[in-house]
Amino acid sequence: MRVIVADHPLITHKLTYLRDERTDSPTFRRLAEELVTLLAYEATRDVRTEPFSINTPVAPTVGIKLANPKPLVVPILRAGLGMLEGMVRLLPSAEVGFLGMMRNEETLEAVTYANRLPDDLSGRQVYVVDPMLATGGTLAMAIEYLAERGARDITCVTLLSAPEGIAAVEQATRTISPPVTLVTGAVDERLNEHGYIVPGLGDAGDRLYGVV
Ligand code: URA
Repeated sequence: MRVIVADHPLITHKLTYLRDERTDSPTFRRLAEELVTLLAYEATRDVRTEPFSINTPVAPTVGIKLANPKPLVVPILRAGLGMLEGMVRLLPSAEVGFLGMMRNEETLEAVTYANRLPDDLSGRQVYVVDPMLATGGTLAMAIEYLAERGARDITCVTLLSAPEGIAAVEQATRTISPPVTLVTGAVDERLNEHGYIVPGLGDAGDRLYGVV
C-alpha cells in the first residue's frame, strides 16, 4: 500500500482546530469538509482522464476530461458522510456508493450493516472516505469487498491515521490485486486501550453528528 501523508501547513492548521475539544459540531463539520477538499486534491492525482478537444476564443487545443467509467466515492457510514461533500465538490461527476460499517466496541472488529454499491466495479477507480483509520478493521474489510467486486484501484482518504491501523490495512491488502493508496492528513502516535487514536480528535461521528 502506498501511504501519502498530506502534511501541508493548511491541512495541519485545520486539523489542529478539528482536534481541539472546544470546537463545536458546526465548526467541526465545516473544517472536516474543507480538509477533505484539500486531501481530495492529493488523492485524485492519478484520476483517469482522456484527451478532450476544445476551441478557445483564439485557437483549437486539446485538454483533458475525466474518463469513463466515472470514479466512485464510497463514504463509510456514519462518520464518512462528513467527508462526502468535500470529496464530490472536487469530483462533481463521480458516482456515490455507501458502505455501513461499525466496529463492535468489545472486539473492536468491523461489522457491515448497510451496503449500497454497484455489483460490478470493473475498471472503476474507487475513493473510500472515512475520517479515522484506527485499528484498520473497517477499512481492510471495505477494501477487500471493493477488490472482490473488481475495483481497478482503491484510494482511501482519512483525516487521521494510527500506525497500528496502517500496518493492519497493509497486512490485509498484501494479497489483493488492485493497487491501494492511503492519503491521510496525519499519522498520530498510537491507539489507546479503547481503540481511540492518541492524541486524535475523539469520536469523529459523535463530533460531527452528536452522540446518538
Ligand atoms: N474512531 C473515531 O472516531 N475516533 C478514534 O479515535 C478511533 C476510531
